[in-house]
Amino acid sequence: MQIFHTISDIRAWRNANQRVAFVPTMGNLHAGHLQLVREAKKHADQVIVSIFVNPTQFSIHEDLANYPRTESRDCELLAAEGCDVVFLPSVETIYAPTAQTTVTVSAVSQNYCGASRTGHFDGVATVVCKLFNIVQPNVAVFGLKDFQQFVVIQTLVRDLHLPIEIIGVPTVREIDGLAMSSRNGYLSERERICAPKIYHILQHARDNLITGKTIVDVETCAISALTHAGFDVDYFNVARRSDLQFATLNDKELIILVAAKLGKTRLIDNLWLDR
Ligand code: PAJ
Repeated sequence: MQIFHTISDIRAWRNANQRVAFVPTMGNLHAGHLQLVREAKKHADQVIVSIFVNPTQFSIHEDLANYPRTESRDCELLAAEGCDVVFLPSVETIYAPTAQTTVTVSAVSQNYCGASRTGHFDGVATVVCKLFNIVQPNVAVFGLKDFQQFVVIQTLVRDLHLPIEIIGVPTVREIDGLAMSSRNGYLSERERICAPKIYHILQHARDNLITGKTIVDVETCAISALTHAGFDVDYFNVARRSDLQFATLNDKELIILVAAKLGKTRLIDNLWLDR
């Protein structure tokens, strides 16, 4: 496995290879990330993973400084998975001091995480667009755990006519149902025991929607269950899967989206539902 830090190294490697699949990450890799690498291998003979903790997607009061950085362990895991290249750029490589361009994907960035994390999806869209232009992959693989991010990327690729196929991988979970996340390591022992309730409450909400409860009732009931379990709820919404607008009575392809804090740790999760 080769490790590159500069854009010129990536360009030289890219020119020598036909078909490339790309997995962007912020490192501190877990089984969810590795599942994306396995999926990427099915779509191209060369797989490249980037590890870049992107400063522009964190707001000032968020965890940028403390975000876990475990690069050498990450590289060992990626080598064992059969990854071909790791791209580890510096902040200066990605953001030249003279940079002036930001990518905004408007409507789908507005609600949910976009409403509570101002500028977050501009940071994500901008860095992913830069990484796409550097790597020029044929295929890029993202996790459906970050469903709003997934829709932002799909919309960006469509709107900017980027010739990249975007593939989504279902959420990889711990045995007790907690969605794997680099932030789970922040949880105290007590919080870790409580954390899977977010998934159980999602499942309960899905069952209630299937049996005909109204969207408002389901959302209210879930918010109260989460609050009772000790979560500080940011949002709990039933959305239309296609465009992430708030769901209405006649929508069939739905997704339930949740973000809630347990102590200082912000957890997000979601569940699909067709009715
Ligand atoms: P990061 O949080 O490191 O996640 C990298 C990729 O792994 C994303 O596509 C995310 O959805 C996926 N992922 C995380 N946990 C997962 C799980 N439990 N199951 C399946 N996939 C999972 O998302 C980012 O980084 C950044 O925003 C990035 C896209 C790299 C831009 O900076």
